[in-house]
This record gives sequence, C-alpha cells and structure tokens, in this order.
Amino acid sequence: MNKILLEQKNIEELKDFFSSLNEEKKLAQFDIDLVLKSEFVAIERVDNKIAGVVGLWRTSKLFPALFLVVKESYQGKDIGNKLMRREMEYASVHYNFIILKTFDNGKYAAAIHLYKKYGFSVFLKKRTRIWMCASFNIRGKLICWFLPFIFYIKDSFSPKKIIRKILGKKNNQ
Ligand SMILES: CC(C)(COP(=O)(O)OP(=O)(O)OC[C@H]1O[C@@H](n2cnc3c(N)ncnc32)[C@H](O)[C@@H]1OP(=O)(O)O)[C@@H](O)C(=O)NCCC(=O)NCCS
Repeated sequence: MNKILLEQKNIEELKDFFSSLNEEKKLAQFDIDLVLKSEFVAIERVDNKIAGVVGLWRTSKLFPALFLVVKESYQGKDIGNKLMRREMEYASVHYNFIILKTFDNGKYAAAIHLYKKYGFSVFLKKRTRIWMCASFNIRGKLICWFLPFIFYIKDSFSPKKIIRKILGKKNNQ
C-alpha cells in the first residue's frame, strides 16, 4: 500500500473527500474501500484540499487496474493530467502493463481523452463498456495483445456463467 495511506490522518481526509463527491463519484465507480486495498495512490491538492485521486488496484486479484476521479469543482484545471502523469510514472517502473474499464457513452469523453493521451488503447468492447490497456515494455505489449483472449476465456469459464448456463438449460428442458 502507498505510504500516504499508512497515516490515519490521510485516511480520514480521503473519507471526507469521497463523501463530498456527487455525480463524479457515480461516474468514477470506486470509493474509499477500494482506495484502502489499492497498491498505489496519488493525491493532488488545491489550496491544501484534496482535489483528485488516482491509483492502482488488482482487479480479479490479477490485473493492475487504474482508478481516477477529480472533484467536479476542480475539473478542467489540469488536475486529471497531473494525476495521470503520476500514475504512469509509478506504473512504468513497477508494472509491465495496466488496464482500466470505462464506458463509451459520452459521459466519459474527458476520461477517454486522457487515457488515450497517456498511452491506453481499447482491447475489448462490449456494448458501451470498454477495457483499455497501456504497456511499458515488450512483455506488457504482449500481455495487452493477449488480453482479449484472456478476458474471453475468463468470461466464458466463470463459475457464475457456467451455473447460469446449466440452470438455463434445465429450465428449457
Ligand atoms: C476524467 C477526469 C478525471 C478529468 O479530470 P480533469 O481534472 O477535468 O482533467 P484535465 O483538466 O487535466 O484534462 C482534461 C482533458 O480532457 C479534455 N476534455 C474535457 N472535456 C472533454 C470532452 N467532453 N471530450 C473530449 N475531451 C475532453 C480537456 O480538453 C483536457 O485535454 P488536454 O489534456 O489534452 O488539454 C474528471 O472529469 C472526472 O473525475 N470525471 C468523473 C470521474 C470519471 O469519469 N473517472 C474516470 C472513470 S473511468
């Protein structure tokens, strides 16, 4: 876990930050619980108040995945850029690749713009849901390339899907 989170003071401040968010929290789809189990967190401040948070956690305990939010009143002031730079700086040293999930529904246009600007490209699209990957070396490039297949297999053989298939067939019999 990132050092900053080891201090109780910062955790309390982050809790306050998340409870002060409105629509942007719904869009970001993460909260303090995810931040607390993340592998990296960076904060940007304006006037000594938290304006935005970026970080990395392990989705499915496997893939390092980005999370990002800037408080609405601070948006459009370059905070997202600063956070993305810090994320990519850290990730490029500690990971081969990172992924993220977002939505191609118009509400995430600024986020998608930033993700592409910092090297992410789409590797999977299901209706409006999109998954993006950024690589930092050859190994990462290969993994990003294979991710659509890995996700397909993971999805097809997930216990939930198998149970649903069995139940679905039984119902039809
Ligand atoms: C996405 C988000 C983090 C951006 O933060 P921000 O502080 O406003 O970002 P910045 O001001 O640093 O930069 C925004 C960039 O997006 C661009 N942008 C803004 N609105 C845009 C739009 N509608 N379409 C395309 N690009 C847009 C800006 O021109 C700027 O581009 P530049 O870096 O090339 O100059 C912020 O909007 C946010 O927190 N949104 C809600 C949560 C969210 O969607 N998180 C991502 C979940 S996947």
